Amino acid sequence: MIFKQLLEPDSCTYTYLIACPESGTTALIDPVLETVDRDLALLQSLGLTLDFTIDTHIHADHLTAARRLRELTGSRIAWPALDQLPCADIGLREGEPFLVGKIPLHPLFTPGHTDHHHAYLIDNGTHHLLFSGDALLIEACGRTDFQSGDAATLYRSIHEKIFSLPDESLIYPGHDYEGRFVTTVAQEKQRNPRLGNNRSQEEFVAIMEGLDLPYPRKIDIAVPGNQQCGQPA
Ligand SMILES: [Fe+2]
Repeated sequence: MIFKQLLEPDSCTYTYLIACPESGTTALIDPVLETVDRDLALLQSLGLTLDFTIDTHIHADHLTAARRLRELTGSRIAWPALDQLPCADIGLREGEPFLVGKIPLHPLFTPGHTDHHHAYLIDNGTHHLLFSGDALLIEACGRTDFQSGDAATLYRSIHEKIFSLPDESLIYPGHDYEGRFVTTVAQEKQRNPRLGNNRSQEEFVAIMEGLDLPYPRKIDIAVPGNQQCGQPA
């Protein structure tokens, strides 16, 4: 598998390039509008053309590049089917693996940050990678205080869908604000200050309710724009 982790520094969003070496089929997970030129240059340098963009959820902090990349490359937009976005070309559902060439990507319904959030698992015997979106971050998790967020729901998603994976599974998050790249299920079970050490759902909900975070600066543009697959205002 061809694999790259790419950072958009303003929103600290990670975009992931995955490509099947046999077929050349290529996808970008959570591409960001501001980094379209960089991503296209990278694809060109690798001799790849883009087939799919895949988003984890309707982001509140940045615009997805899905629409722009489709305009520029003809890539198709894959998105959680539950969001029912008219702009999406492919609806992703848990229980229905999505093939990037020969690489099966397993959508995992992981609501709580948003109501239709999905993470994506690659588990082909060789690679055990989870693209966790904004459900589970490194020693943190996605916010649950806006859009359709709900802390108790997020707690259940993380425990049922992520902490149930093998301990050595690599977790690649949708963001990191401190320059970290990757974590594992075992590390988060142990070290995550909101969830680790078997914190209870009640403890987690109290922590999330006490965060007192600022209103997201781009939310009023990002959410309606992302409901149109990344349409600038
Ligand atoms: Fe998000």
